[in-house]
Amino acid sequence: MRLEEIMRLDAEYVIRTYSRLPVAFVMGRGSRLWDTEGKEYVDFVSGIGVAAVGHCHPKIVAAVKKQVDELIHTSNLYYIAPQAELARRLWELSGGYKCFFCNSGAEANEAAIKLARRYAKLKYGEGRYEIISALGSFHGRTYAAMTATGQEKYHAGFEPLVGGFKYVPFNDIEAIQEAITERTCAIMLEPIQGESGVRIPDDDYLPKVADICDRHGILLILDEVQTGLGRTGKLWAHEHYSIKPHIFTLAKAIAGGVPMGVMLAKPDVAEAFEPACHASTFGGNFLACAAALAFLDVVAQERLVENAAAMGELLLSKLQAVTKQSRLVKEVRGKGLMLAIEFSSDVAKDMQGKLLEGGLIVNAVGGNIIRMLPPLIITEAEVEFAIRAIEGAIEELERELFECRT
Ligand SMILES: Cc1ncc(COP(=O)(O)O)c(C=O)c1O
Repeated sequence: MRLEEIMRLDAEYVIRTYSRLPVAFVMGRGSRLWDTEGKEYVDFVSGIGVAAVGHCHPKIVAAVKKQVDELIHTSNLYYIAPQAELARRLWELSGGYKCFFCNSGAEANEAAIKLARRYAKLKYGEGRYEIISALGSFHGRTYAAMTATGQEKYHAGFEPLVGGFKYVPFNDIEAIQEAITERTCAIMLEPIQGESGVRIPDDDYLPKVADICDRHGILLILDEVQTGLGRTGKLWAHEHYSIKPHIFTLAKAIAGGVPMGVMLAKPDVAEAFEPACHASTFGGNFLACAAALAFLDVVAQERLVENAAAMGELLLSKLQAVTKQSRLVKEVRGKGLMLAIEFSSDVAKDMQGKLLEGGLIVNAVGGNIIRMLPPLIITEAEVEFAIRAIEGAIEELERELFECRT
């Protein structure tokens, strides 16, 4: 189907919740995508961090095909072997967390919020239900996850929101200390804020939050939907800070593109859920679990966490070097393969457009920020390609903005 026809059908029949770029991809291999016109792109967004082992990795494709031939879904009324196996693998990789499986990041966060409130109720009795989250956070679009999201623009028009949430500035320990009351049951944070433009807290922020939680008997929930599974150069972002949250959530990369979310909880916290407390029809079905097991194999076999750390460092240092003299660039930041360029004015959409034209896919967020979440498999040559493309696009934009005015 031609792009114009896809766009016409979308406009006519799909409910308008996305502002899409005028491109439709038809094939992907590794870090490359091809559009309807046959044009090739290097993908530095990877489906917002989903295609972490690249598009259509042969081992994930083979695992999905094999599973589809055997059994796709039976429901959680029965035991599911690959689900049990995946939970055991995640227990080993996380150092002792039990799993609840669902289908998205928002759902994993809903599960975390429900578990935290139930745990506090069973342990402390009535009245301890409040959840503190951070301004600028993003936790998903379902009601409690949206309420936990500390951005008014996502709340507008959907009031009344879920009760019992409080917001504090991110990376501000005093604000957390002041917000805690006898009603606080949990603090919920992204280790690095992704959607609002890769905001990295000070090194001592999360350890201090973890310490406050321990002292007050408050649960620490980390939303690792975007940061988890190698993205930041460690398997879990919380490893950078040598802390262990009580609960953390995953989605995006976990099943190589097949929808899956996971809530992981320490066993004593997980005890607060019992049969009928929470459930998901599709959660942890055969297909998603087979894909997730293959994903974890690929990450280990190809040493992709190590590659993310090395390529992330290379990309960050080269980006910083080529943008150092730029009047347009305010800051380049990143951890592993989660990076952002912040501009001094609202040029992110123009940059995104220019780069797309030149065959590099990046993501404009918040007017003046370009976010990059390349697949963990990227090579030095692809880093070099991206650097040249970004350098060229910035120079072009500077010429347009500054030289036409003088
Ligand atoms: C940190 C974080 N949490 C939650 C979500 C929501 O995930 P989903 O869109 O799978 O519901 C996202 C999505 O971007 C995210 O980045």
